[in-house]
Amino acid sequence: MRKLLLCAPDHYGIEYEINPWMSRARGADTPVVQAQWRGLHEKLLSLGCDVHLIPGVPRLPDMVFTANAGLTVGKKFIPSNFRHEERAGEAAFFATWMEERGYEIVWLPKDQFFEGEGDALFAGDALFCGYKFRTDVNSHRAVAEILNCLVISVELVDPRFYHIDTCFCPLTDGGAVWFPAAFDEYGQRTIRDHVPNLIDVVEAEAAHFSCNAVVLEREVVLPEGAPQLMNSLRDRGYNCHSLPMTEFLKAGGACKCLTMFMPQRETV
Ligand code: ARG
Repeated sequence: MRKLLLCAPDHYGIEYEINPWMSRARGADTPVVQAQWRGLHEKLLSLGCDVHLIPGVPRLPDMVFTANAGLTVGKKFIPSNFRHEERAGEAAFFATWMEERGYEIVWLPKDQFFEGEGDALFAGDALFCGYKFRTDVNSHRAVAEILNCLVISVELVDPRFYHIDTCFCPLTDGGAVWFPAAFDEYGQRTIRDHVPNLIDVVEAEAAHFSCNAVVLEREVVLPEGAPQLMNSLRDRGYNCHSLPMTEFLKAGGACKCLTMFMPQRETV
């Protein structure tokens, strides 16, 4: 049973613009926000997840994206150091919540930006970390030292795919789903060298945040708009559950961004 952290969208909205998807002129429709988030919450519960909820905080509208709370491995929690001031206030709320539940909080140096599981995903034995738009590459070394694991740093090159979880999604068979053009050539080569059985996502589907999926053994919860990817996943023996996520796409997020694993890995 996977333990997950979600945050209900009671204070969610498009109140600033920190990625190319966000436009204050294109606000989120509150009743639809609630319905879409409830759809995700109920889906994860129906798949047997142990879902925990952190209360949202007024004026922190992106707190719903709990993947950016930090990174949890075993009982260790490395909180995010957000790049943007607009989100920086979230860190203390997430860290306090985790600490009160018995996690050991290990802060990174304050000058190293790191945006949690949104930029740090295990595939096989390695922790793949994205950098440039949000996370700083120098935080990766600190994360590797804290966790004592192999960290593979990959540069993100397309501002639409500013966190690694928007373009790379490890599967439970050791493979992964990815949108190659979101990485530079060296990053593409590195991922091809380390990850077997890659499933490439076409640009039109990547733009629906199809890589932003929650993978639970053979179940994959992903946003609507990826018929090709769903076929490929079915051929590999995965069951796909597609959900409408339009209101969260307006903030540059979808299923995985709204979810943090507690922990992502028990051990490394
Ligand atoms: N509006 C949020 C931001 O720009 C969206 C975060 C999406 N999270 C993610 N893990 N990709 O920070």
